[in-house]
Amino acid sequence: MKTKAFIFDLDGVIVDTAKYHYLAWKKIADTLNIDFTHEHNELLKGVSRVRSLEIILGLGNVEATEEQKNEWLNQKNEDYLAYIDKMDDSEILPGVMRVLNFLKDHNQPIILGSASKNARPILEKVQILNYFDDIVDGNDVSNAKPDPEVFIVGARKANQTNENSIVFEDSVAGIEAANTAKMTSIGIGEASILNEAKFNFNNFEEISEDFLAELINQ
Ligand code: BG6
Ligand code: MG
Repeated sequence: MKTKAFIFDLDGVIVDTAKYHYLAWKKIADTLNIDFTHEHNELLKGVSRVRSLEIILGLGNVEATEEQKNEWLNQKNEDYLAYIDKMDDSEILPGVMRVLNFLKDHNQPIILGSASKNARPILEKVQILNYFDDIVDGNDVSNAKPDPEVFIVGARKANQTNENSIVFEDSVAGIEAANTAKMTSIGIGEASILNEAKFNFNNFEEISEDFLAELINQ
């Protein structure tokens, strides 16, 4: 068997933390009288924390000082971490463990490529930190998705070329990042939204072991 780099996004791919991001942002938006819906929340997927706040303030045409923005960023993260604290391995999305185990059994490098600065504590909470050969997260890169930096650093850590790297992503920005780097992009979620992805699946339960073996040997 050949070796590839398998790079996983975290939020919305391994765990459904988008709902906790939403609740924590919604609290800030409510105090500012900004209408923030689940549809608006789609705009925040894959996007950094700072950029997320800018998008929300933009929805309400709210202007603020850097000091105020920092207060809201801290508040949001505190509330988010309170949700994370209650997580356990039951929140790993269906099919993820089967895919991770298949890749481990076939000696494939498994890398995390996430915009989140909370990636490590989340992987610890759901008890899969030890599956990852390397973690590249929001603390390690200066350019957020759709810039491909996070995935390119991940591929290097696995000693693989971009062309030999496969990215699992649930966000439009992340698919764009993988495509820009000439990696194989796999959209997890609605194909109509992730229509730039090379392959699309609704979830990991739809991904067969034959398909994974083909990715490894292509
Ligand atoms: C991404 C999420 O994975 O991480 C975004 O899709 C989030 O919604 C971003 O804003 C940053 O996360 P954190 O945990 O550093 O605030
Ligand atoms: Mg995501």
